[in-house]
Amino acid sequence: MSDSSPQPKKLFIKTYGCQMNVYDSERMAEALGTQGYVETGSPDDADMILLNTCHIREKAAEKVYSELGRFKGLKAAKPDLKIGVAGCVAQAEGEEIMRRQPLVDLVVGPQSYHRLPDLEARARGGEKALDTEFPEEDKFNHLARRPKAKRAPTAFLTVQEGCDKFCAFCVVPYTRGAEVSRPAERILTEARDLVERGVREITLLGQNVNAYHGAGPDGGDRTLAQLIWDLDKIDGLERIRFTTSHPNDMTDELIEAHGTCAKLMPYLHLPVQAGSDRILKRMNRSHTVDSYLRLIERIRAARPDILMSGDFIVGFPEETEADFQATLDLVQEVGYGYAYSFKYSTRPGTPAAERPQVPAAEADDRLQRLQALITRDQRRIQDSMVGREMSVLIEKPGRRDGQMVGKSDYLHAVHIENADLKQGDLVPVRILSSGANSLAAEAIGPAR
Ligand code: SAH
Ligand code: SF4
Ligand code: F3S
Repeated sequence: MSDSSPQPKKLFIKTYGCQMNVYDSERMAEALGTQGYVETGSPDDADMILLNTCHIREKAAEKVYSELGRFKGLKAAKPDLKIGVAGCVAQAEGEEIMRRQPLVDLVVGPQSYHRLPDLEARARGGEKALDTEFPEEDKFNHLARRPKAKRAPTAFLTVQEGCDKFCAFCVVPYTRGAEVSRPAERILTEARDLVERGVREITLLGQNVNAYHGAGPDGGDRTLAQLIWDLDKIDGLERIRFTTSHPNDMTDELIEAHGTCAKLMPYLHLPVQAGSDRILKRMNRSHTVDSYLRLIERIRAARPDILMSGDFIVGFPEETEADFQATLDLVQEVGYGYAYSFKYSTRPGTPAAERPQVPAAEADDRLQRLQALITRDQRRIQDSMVGREMSVLIEKPGRRDGQMVGKSDYLHAVHIENADLKQGDLVPVRILSSGANSLAAEAIGPAR
């Protein structure tokens, strides 16, 4: 006998770029779930392929076109297959994508994901569907509610979209639009829902997350620090993190929260981009090296063990060797537990694109020198964890039998040889040794 219920359609999503894209991909999968899609781990058996793209550097954007080219065979074998491009490349180059790659059926910008079910239906009907508007309504209000499925112990939660800072090198204000904060109550409802489903650590996301100012229940604005204190009250939520912060929006109350809120983890990603005031000014960063260093002093006074993380760009237009040396000096002075460094990439439409560029070979050389210094510091700081006691949130089994892996308070990967531990356990440990990319530890108390 034949089964009359329709086969679910299969959706393959590939995500590039920042954590906000990871969060958005989850929301898109849920929205398309209402159209009868289930996720698959491979493009080969998919009925719809969605690339959630990043436009931050040239290489990231070009990846999309080479990836799309690879789907040619799949589409020829299965004409019903729909291919969509979402994310920041979709926003920046929507119509060009359709022109350059006729395989693409659907293009959707980051602020229009709630319209995805409708776009999918249009694409199914044979139309080329494109939506790169910045609608007034909040996409997250209109996205489908999640199914009550169990979740991994850590989750991202976007609290703010867009950016108003307009750093001279950056596409985000153009691809994500103006800064908008979600109302506090919606975030708290979502957080409670996540916790009910097994989440114990939430990372609040925004391109300038510390400038968060969402509507509070009484009509007034809630700040990020207040939101963190609201989250602190949720039973079962054990850890709170937030990323990414801008130095200019690190308020006193947020710094203080790092000293007084036990659930707020001792890790802060605070990009500075460069160590020369001349370059910072040209980058339109609106802070100086000195104000950044003084800020870190205050943060460390509130939470002495905090692990600092940062982002750097080398080879920004007109960066001299002396400017670059100042960046090395700054890195040395701060001592980053983690730092991410990038070679400047010219982005069309941004102010810096028009300026005299640093020769590529020089920028490459600077990147190598900066990365060598950063790697040394990262290793030194990771090694300094040996002998210390902290907590680890268990995420998954390790490579070896009986071994589990999780993240420390400071976000280092930690291995523990203990077959009794399970995913989601929060366990007190002592760090035993430091390896190439992770720490090893022993449990020193019961997991909870
Ligand atoms: N909103 C965050 C991060 C934005 S994008 C912040 O302000 O810190 C992440 C990182 O990518 C940036 O911190 C920056 O270091 C890097 N980046 C952004 N635009 C870039 C460009 N045009 N070339 C190279 N790196 C870039
Ligand atoms: Fe880009 Fe600057 Fe906004 Fe960060 S603060 S997203 S680097 S414009
Ligand atoms: Fe990339 Fe867009 Fe995030 S450009 S870094 S995916 S906001």
